[in-house]
Amino acid sequence: MCGIVGYIGEKKAAPILLSGLKKLEYRGYDSAGIAIQEKEAVKIIKKEGKLDKLKASAESEVFYGGTGIGHTRWATHGRPSDINSHPHTDSFSEIVIVHNGIIENFRELKEELIEQGHRFKSETDTEVVAHLISTYYDDDLKTAVSKAVKSLEGSFALAVMSHNEKDRIIAVRKDSPLIIGLGENENFLASDIPAYLEHTDNFYILEDGEIADIRKNEVDIYKFNGDLIANKTKTKINWDAEMAEKQGYDHFMLKEIHEQPESLKRLLEDNLKDGKIDLTASGLAENWLDNYDKIHIVACGTAYHSGALAKYLLEDKLRIPVEVEVASEYRYRNPIVNDRTLMIVVSQSGETADTLAALRLARSKGASVLALTNSRDSSIARESDMLIYLKAGPEIAVASTKAYTNMVAAFYILLIDGMRQRDDISEELVVNYTSDLIKLPEMIRKLSQQSKEQIEIIANKYAQKENIFFIGRNTDYTLALEGALKLKEISYIHAEAYPAGELKHGTLALVEENVPVVALGSRADIFAKLFSNLKEVKARGAETLLITEENQKFEADSVDYLIELPVLNKDFAGLLAIIPLQLLAYYTALNCGEDIDQPRNLAKSVTVE
Ligand code: F6R
Repeated sequence: MCGIVGYIGEKKAAPILLSGLKKLEYRGYDSAGIAIQEKEAVKIIKKEGKLDKLKASAESEVFYGGTGIGHTRWATHGRPSDINSHPHTDSFSEIVIVHNGIIENFRELKEELIEQGHRFKSETDTEVVAHLISTYYDDDLKTAVSKAVKSLEGSFALAVMSHNEKDRIIAVRKDSPLIIGLGENENFLASDIPAYLEHTDNFYILEDGEIADIRKNEVDIYKFNGDLIANKTKTKINWDAEMAEKQGYDHFMLKEIHEQPESLKRLLEDNLKDGKIDLTASGLAENWLDNYDKIHIVACGTAYHSGALAKYLLEDKLRIPVEVEVASEYRYRNPIVNDRTLMIVVSQSGETADTLAALRLARSKGASVLALTNSRDSSIARESDMLIYLKAGPEIAVASTKAYTNMVAAFYILLIDGMRQRDDISEELVVNYTSDLIKLPEMIRKLSQQSKEQIEIIANKYAQKENIFFIGRNTDYTLALEGALKLKEISYIHAEAYPAGELKHGTLALVEENVPVVALGSRADIFAKLFSNLKEVKARGAETLLITEENQKFEADSVDYLIELPVLNKDFAGLLAIIPLQLLAYYTALNCGEDIDQPRNLAKSVTVE
């Protein structure tokens, strides 16, 4: 949801900002801009469209300055255009600003400023903030910004410069992430760590309600009330900058699909000791199941799908009621939560605004919060009581793949740990499930290599279709949800998932000659039921693709395409199906010629509601 960068140091700022923006492009890509402090004035270029357009314009200009800020935009207020792109300025171009988030009271502020004589060029909420800061500006930018933020409502990460103070950037964080990378005679500012991993591994993670005064040799951090934070902790990041590169793959998505065996291994290694699940590092009590009467799982999108799968398994084996809900709904109702509720929030980025708000709501009602997140330093990780760090590594493609797999695997880990605590579950079953979990990375590796050619053939056909249906039962239904989301978000083909038994209550009317139906039948226990639904669609002319385990018996004439999965226990087999589903989405989008890593209208980290 918009990416912010900043640089202050002895090098030329422009190329450093542009390369930082490239790494943050996943956060928004409908326009981009940079502002550089030059001798005479601040020089700004900004362009509607992808970052490459901005880069092309920047190449035809000369920039010398060593201080600058930049932005890649995901439009909220005002359509994508050159004018609405960031950076924005006040009327006299004294104050220059980039912003991530939404200023909820911008209309009221704008009206007041117009009454005072201010004139606006864009439709954005951000421009209002630049004007507001200018009204407080005397000769100290930090003072002016500190006064202005007191009037702002909503979520905002801001980077602000004044052309009167050339060696200074002021950064503000409220409900939108910002980090400061620390170098020698240079400092960096960004919405996310990958922007500057190649320059430093030493960071300050700004907290909500903090203002940073950044110079090339010094960073001072204050609270909104003006108090200096004396001993702000530095965070050392041990990600390899290479992890955030494509490494020879055509797209980040394909690279991330193929990284899954390794990223899954990392998660398992962290949570296994001597062949047994060990969740000590998460902060969960040894017998945590005793502490709760119910579990709420709350997340968005793909992360929500991992929770939907977990509900089936946790309720079945642990016999504890589990509610799973999308965060944007949960946060605006009045859920029944108390101190015996375990709230599990799932988020790759750890910054999703709705998930964070749901977490805060549940906490305020007394719940204990366990976060499953891929960013240990994120707001969600820091505001939770317990954490399972997903360790998938940087996920750059907007469509989530390896993070989903690790989310599901984290739920498997939790499941096995809960099974250990149940008297009615044999130790043998716990041992078998643990050993199946350990087998998963290698099975995934083989599967991603074996299934490629056949999937390319199917994807070629699917690229011509307008509607594709996915069906499944139990955990397979949740895989169907994820398969349909993956396909639609990157290929723009309409794809919907249904519980297989539900089709005949309405949607079957849409199934006609040659409509593709993907049937997920990884669960041996209910395969027969799924297969009878597959026959119902076949009888209406559907073109069927069955994904099931390799020794499954069925009537072959109902199945047009078959993808076989290695045999695994019925609860874990579903995760294997995600590999062909991700590859199917990828190759279909490739055939459609779409921008796979940056699908239209979407952004990786949704920090606005
Ligand atoms: C889809 C996708 C999104 C995210 C959702 C939540 O491929 O990536 O649906 O899953 O925006 O994001 P996080 O997990 O960062 O909270």
